[in-house]
Amino acid sequence: MQYVKLNSGDQMPIVGLGTWKLKGEECVNSVQTAINIGYNHLDTADLYDNHQAVGKGIKASKAQRKQLFITSKIKPENLNYQTIIEDTKRFLNELNIEYLDLILIHWPNKEIPLKTSLKALKELQTEGLVKNIGVSNFTINHLKDALELYPDLIAVNQVEFHPTFYQKDLLEFCRKNGIILTAYSPLARGEIFENEILQNLADKYNKSAAQLALKWLIDKNIVAIPKASSKAHLKANLNLFDWELPAEAREKIDKLNQNNRLIEPSFAEFDY
Ligand SMILES: NC(=O)c1ccc[n+]([C@@H]2O[C@H](COP(=O)([O-])OP(=O)(O)OC[C@H]3O[C@@H](n4cnc5c(N)ncnc54)[C@H](OP(=O)(O)O)[C@@H]3O)[C@@H](O)[C@H]2O)c1
Repeated sequence: MQYVKLNSGDQMPIVGLGTWKLKGEECVNSVQTAINIGYNHLDTADLYDNHQAVGKGIKASKAQRKQLFITSKIKPENLNYQTIIEDTKRFLNELNIEYLDLILIHWPNKEIPLKTSLKALKELQTEGLVKNIGVSNFTINHLKDALELYPDLIAVNQVEFHPTFYQKDLLEFCRKNGIILTAYSPLARGEIFENEILQNLADKYNKSAAQLALKWLIDKNIVAIPKASSKAHLKANLNLFDWELPAEAREKIDKLNQNNRLIEPSFAEFDY
């Protein structure tokens, strides 16, 4: 595993298992298998309704808590002070753990003052219930608001990022402000396999399109959280650390952007 350093000094594994759509036994098995083959980073959310299954998978893996990096996220309608405090404690119960390595505001919500939400998250951090605080689906303007309120608080911004949705300006802004970018839907929810250029590169270099896309991300110091359910996919997505991305591949993948945003629910604030 490779790591990125967060503003707290904590190390975050550069690849994690995404768990959106994983539920019940399938979720338990995927989490357990993932940990047993070398994953030490799990990404869940209250919205995914799978905390208990993730917790069971962790328990079944027999991994030590301190070897894992666990992220969860607060729903956008639950960003009031008291709800954040109560929800986070509920997440810990559901996951059967004592602390989260990272808690994220899942989506910005202009109806609830950011200042209130960040204050609650900071308090949870002071209490030791969460080690790091971050956001998700924040634009540069949302990040500017957060930085103005609390200059050193935000460790991570988790956003959609893959070869056909290369958010260069946002990445640059995050880098300048010491915020680690985490790429969600790093495989474009499976669409990358339909990209002919990527597929040709994969054939040429004897890698899969998924491996090239993930390597392209981690080479930019971007954390990637691909979701996979089968052992074969889980294994392939972790097989990234003993080879180099050829310069030709990097240059070609750098040019695949089509502003192809796949996740845009009605409540998103991407126009802010
Ligand atoms: N913060 C947010 O708002 C937000 C939004 C979306 C996603 N996320 C997070 O990001 C994670 C990943 O994103 P995602 O689930 O949208 O999509 P993704 O990781 O881009 O793609 C997942 C799809 O790719 C397939 N796949 C994975 N590895 C493969 C491989 N090696 N070869 C072929 N197919 C492969 C999976 O199939 P199998 O399951 O069959 O393996 C699944 O259908 C989520 O699970 C979630 O944790 C966060």
